[in-house]
Amino acid sequence: MINALRGMKDLTFEESERFVHIVTTAISISKKYGYSYIETPILEETKLFKRSVGESSDIVGKEMYQFTDKGGNDVCMRPEGTAGVVRAFVQAKLDRRQNEKFKFYYYGPMFRYERPQKGRLREFHQFGCESFGEASVYEDFTIIQMIGDIFKALGIGYNLQINSLGCPTCMPPYRQNLINFLTNYQNKLCEDCNRRISTNPIRVLDCKNETCQSYLKDSPKLIESLCDSCDEDFNKLVKLLKSENISYEIDTHLVRGLDYYSKTAFEFVSNEIGSQSAIAGGGRYDKLVEFLDGKPTPAVGFALGIERIMELVQMPEIERQGYYLGAMEQDAIDSLFALASKKRDRDKVTLEYAPKKLKAHLKGADKVNARYCAVVGEDEFKNQTVWVKDLVKKEESIISWSDF
Ligand code: HAM
Repeated sequence: MINALRGMKDLTFEESERFVHIVTTAISISKKYGYSYIETPILEETKLFKRSVGESSDIVGKEMYQFTDKGGNDVCMRPEGTAGVVRAFVQAKLDRRQNEKFKFYYYGPMFRYERPQKGRLREFHQFGCESFGEASVYEDFTIIQMIGDIFKALGIGYNLQINSLGCPTCMPPYRQNLINFLTNYQNKLCEDCNRRISTNPIRVLDCKNETCQSYLKDSPKLIESLCDSCDEDFNKLVKLLKSENISYEIDTHLVRGLDYYSKTAFEFVSNEIGSQSAIAGGGRYDKLVEFLDGKPTPAVGFALGIERIMELVQMPEIERQGYYLGAMEQDAIDSLFALASKKRDRDKVTLEYAPKKLKAHLKGADKVNARYCAVVGEDEFKNQTVWVKDLVKKEESIISWSDF
């Protein structure tokens, strides 16, 4: 027997309904905020992710589904959505329309070759939004508010963590400061941290190792050395969250696993799904469009993890819906198609092709959760009528074919 690959899942029935419910809820709310749909390829040139997510990140360094295609191109299955959307933005020359703003939403599969565990898949699905052309921190706030709306509509609780990752003015001196601090603890920090001191020192801050964290308590904090512009934006964000009663925590060690962020970074976490607790993450990435050869364009966005949110969403009980339609004699079966097609203009119809006794039809209607069981029996066929039972109200009636 051939099974799905490790870390990849099939979704059916109640699970796939929950998946669709999350996506449609997120789409309808993001449309209210002015987002329109963008579809980008799953396969991209590997260098797109090297240049955007960053060569020293785990995602690019360890987790990519990367291969050489038949034409000899180095390609990979997208590990996230932002890089492809930015590439598409630049390729369509939208970066040249500097006075306009563009807002895109997307959803689909992402691929990361991680060790699978609860909440961590190798193929998982994100819903994401990317907003281009708006430098104001009001946009960062609006995106956080929109994610709050999505989780509220889905009935999900969360904690919001925020941080600022500074900009090319304040990040480099902070980075040097941090390297100096970390170098003092070199022989006490874990192997990964030691490697990161030279490749990506900021990532040391979110090391999961408790011993490392104990040394990091006194590390320099970026939000204490932000430049005036970053500091002003961060304070404004905090003020807006407070005034709108959105609770948050400042997490000075929140650095995100992707290298393209500057200024605002945030994560939504749930304490109900175990160790893989981030249900959404994002932030501002004002330099990425330039990194990918576009004109400087401020941008901010987020993505949420659909499978992790599926663990948290309760679906309302599905009510009986539509018609089950069958006949009791072989001769009557052909007459069902015209009846079904008329009903399908407005309703769901399940057709049974085999002649059966009434009791079997009632069972069949139950199985497909139909509201009405409609049957053409011997008399009904003669009189061109249908026997219909409303399975909720328990009422029966005879209806002519023309009125059905
Ligand atoms: P990310 O934090 O890497 O950000 O992923 C976003 C969300 O995807 C996570 O919060 C999590 O819910 C889900 N996720 C990530 N990895 C897995 C996995 N292996 N299995 C299941 N779920 C997972 C990004 O990808 C950025 N592109 C977000 C963004 C958009 N920033 C700006 N714009």
